[in-house]
Amino acid sequence: MIIAVDGPTASGKGTIAKALAAHFGLPHLDTGLLYRAVALHCVRHGGNPDSPADALAACDFPAPLMADPELRSETTGGLASRVSVHPEVRTALYDLQRAFAMQSGGAVLDGRDIGTVIAPEAEAKLFVIASIPARAERRFREMQEMGKAANRTTIEADLELRDLRDATRTAAPLLAAEDAMILDTSLLNRDEAIARAIALVELKLESS
Ligand code: C5P
Repeated sequence: MIIAVDGPTASGKGTIAKALAAHFGLPHLDTGLLYRAVALHCVRHGGNPDSPADALAACDFPAPLMADPELRSETTGGLASRVSVHPEVRTALYDLQRAFAMQSGGAVLDGRDIGTVIAPEAEAKLFVIASIPARAERRFREMQEMGKAANRTTIEADLELRDLRDATRTAAPLLAAEDAMILDTSLLNRDEAIARAIALVELKLESS
């Protein structure tokens, strides 16, 4: 069984995907980390994330980079949204994601285009959304917990910019698949969002 979890930054899709993987006993891939690794590798080697050639060259990043804590920073997230607009980069990362999705026994993948491009045949597709203030508040608290300086207004502006870039790019824009179930987590806490996601997937599996 393949479960596709898509949605914008800080919507809760990562937490939900991880919980679904644990619940259904499936391996999980956070595909955003791949784009983040490309971005980090690119800038660390003096590349320009807006250059398709530089970003493509960074797609052969060394595997240990996937464990680099800097991958999860806001700065790297912003850079990732810039390398991810290049169709060359998306094509270069396709095979790895596709192979992960198609492994025997199934998988859970989260990202932006899992239900539309990487695994359109997924048995269950969730599109996780939340309002900008709700997402900014979560990001603000996360950053505070990590002891990082945070400003709600800057976070909201950054989220809006990344949403716009992800939704308006020509290559695989952030878009709910026609058969995706929309889960709005704006008013849900972590446990409620997870319970709702599990219930939606189970309902979908029962009806198919
Ligand atoms: O999900 P995360 O915030 O880690 O993703 C970072 C960036 O990588 C996103 O803003 C998006 O531009 C890009 N991305 C993508 N396709 C995916 C996953 C992430 O374009 N499947």
